[in-house]
Amino acid sequence: ATNRTFTMIKPDAVKNGHTGAILNDIIKGGFKIVAMKYTSLTKETAGAFYAVHKERGFYGELVDFMSSGPIVAAILEKDNAVEDFRKLIGATDPKKAEVGTIRNKYAESIEANAVHGSDSDENAEIEGNFYFSALERF
Ligand code: CMP
Repeated sequence: ATNRTFTMIKPDAVKNGHTGAILNDIIKGGFKIVAMKYTSLTKETAGAFYAVHKERGFYGELVDFMSSGPIVAAILEKDNAVEDFRKLIGATDPKKAEVGTIRNKYAESIEANAVHGSDSDENAEIEGNFYFSALERF
């Protein structure tokens, strides 16, 4: 079945000028963009987005990093979207990401790892709703 995932191009990748190349990889990977915005997170909104990681040691740093500059948020559509997008971006740690994946090509570190991808259909729905109203999806 066709379904959806949610992504962010993170502040490191936007800052380093990789936005266009990453969007190109996403489209070439067969994903259709159904919603997109160039925006930024505050500490409060970044903290809320990553609330599931609140108890992790890296949470404070992650919130600082994710609110450090502009990001691109998007909802993507494809058959098997969540799983296929995670394959396209590669492992969280770019040192472990397969050659040719987005994180392999563009990430700086396990934290500044270029892109986010939802880890389940349920979270894709929650994360998409965090950024986009019904009027902003196509
Ligand atoms: P993401 O897929 O957006 O989900 C949680 C994020 O936390 C992850 O990408 C990284 O940016 C960050 N992260 C995960 N593990 C670590 C870690 N060990 N140290 C620092 N940041 C991490």
